[in-house]
This record gives sequence, structure tokens and C-alpha cells, in this order.
Amino acid sequence: MNRFEKLATGGVSAAIAAVLFVWGVGAGAAEDRVKVDDNSFKCISEMTKVRHFYVDNLSGKLAETVAVATAGKGDYPEGSVVQLMPNEVMIKQNKGFNPATRDWEFFWIDVDKNGAKIFTRGFAEVNNRLNLNCFTCHVKAEPQYDFICETGHGCDPIPVTKAMFGALQRTDPRCKGSDVVTAEDQESLRQLGEVVKALTGQK
Ligand code: HEC
Repeated sequence: MNRFEKLATGGVSAAIAAVLFVWGVGAGAAEDRVKVDDNSFKCISEMTKVRHFYVDNLSGKLAETVAVATAGKGDYPEGSVVQLMPNEVMIKQNKGFNPATRDWEFFWIDVDKNGAKIFTRGFAEVNNRLNLNCFTCHVKAEPQYDFICETGHGCDPIPVTKAMFGALQRTDPRCKGSDVVTAEDQESLRQLGEVVKALTGQK
């Protein structure tokens, strides 16, 4: 082995050691994360309703989550699940996981009568079905609201009325009885369809 080869193999094993080290650290971080998969989600109306949205907690801290949601300000504990619509979800990861999003992970999930499938998940890069970025809107909530927009928290308003998201909640296909749709909800969903069409330019 000449000097060059020796150096090269030394370099390779150093690189392997570095990879293994990073891998080890990465594996540790993965265990520190709130585990979320397709089975973490449930029929929205089986979650706990606070005002007009729903909360849950995947880390056994439901009482703390409900307390923050009810107070309407403060930091949500890890494991918190917040939903207004059946297919858009915010879940609080462990502290320090993603400081830019205050550890919120954003999800767009597909739902049908058999359950949920994660379509996209992540932090600042996740968009909703109108191709609008979750983070860009939610980061505008004033700091005491921990990314929760509601109304008057500093976020730009969305063209979805209470009647519309109420109708979406009542017709979540995962929930029992969701196939019975009132005329009022049907009308709200029709109007929402018009809004979506106008925004996406679809005919
Ligand atoms: C155009 C801006 C905008 C985008 C994009 C957006 N949101 Fe929101 N979101 C809002 C506003 C405003 C509300 C409050 C609506 C209300 O209460 O009337 C809201 C409400 C919510 C709520 C209920 C709690 C709260 O903040 O009031 C959740 C959960 C949520 N959005 C998740 C998401 C997720 C996940 C995405 C991306 C997949 C997303 N949002 C994309 C503006 C946005």
C-alpha cells in the first residue's frame, strides 16, 4: 500500500466512522420524536372540541392541550394535535425539534371511510391542497398564540366561513353517520367548492 492508498483508506474509514456517528445521533433523534403514522389520526368529531376546532394529544397530555386551547394562548405541549378541517393537521413535536415552526409539524392527510393516509408532512415546506404554504400563514400568529390563527391573531384570513368548516367537520367520511348531510351543510359545501374553484382557476 503506498502512501496515497493508505491515506485514501484512512479517509474512507474516517468517513464511515463519521456516517455511523451521524447515523447514531440521527437514530437517537428519531426516538425523541412524537411518532405519527396513518393510524395516529381519527374521526375529527371524536377529538375534543374547543370553540370551533378540535384537539387531541398523542403523548398522553390531553388535559394540558385542552387547557392551552381553552385559554386561547400559551405553548401547546408535545403530542398536541390540532385540527379545523378533516385533512389539515398540526402536531406538536418534541421541544427543539424544529425551532422555526415552534416544533409544529404540518400534515395534509387524505381521509376516506377507512381512515387516513398521510399525503405530505413536514415543517416549513408543507402546502395545503390549494398549494398554499401552511407555515407562511401560521407563522403570522402573534407569539402568545403559538401558531394558532383563529381570528384576530395576526394571520391573513382564509375564505372559509364557520358554516363551511362546520360542514366539513360534520361530513368527515371517517365518522359514523357522516353520510347523512343536511341541506344547510350541502349548501355550505357547494359554496366552498365555488371558492376552491375560483382560487385554483378550475372550471
Ligand atoms: C392562507 C393561509 C393559510 C394556509 C395556507 C393554511 N392555514 Fe391553517 N389556518 C389559517 C387561518 C386564518 C385559520 C383560522 C381559521 C378560523 O378559525 O376562522 C387556520 C386554522 C387552522 C387550524 C386550526 C387552528 C388555528 O390555527 O386556528 C389548523 C390546525 C390549521 N389551520 C392547519 C393548517 C395546515 C396543516 C395547513 C397546511 C396543510 C394550513 N393550516 C394552511 C390560515 C392558513
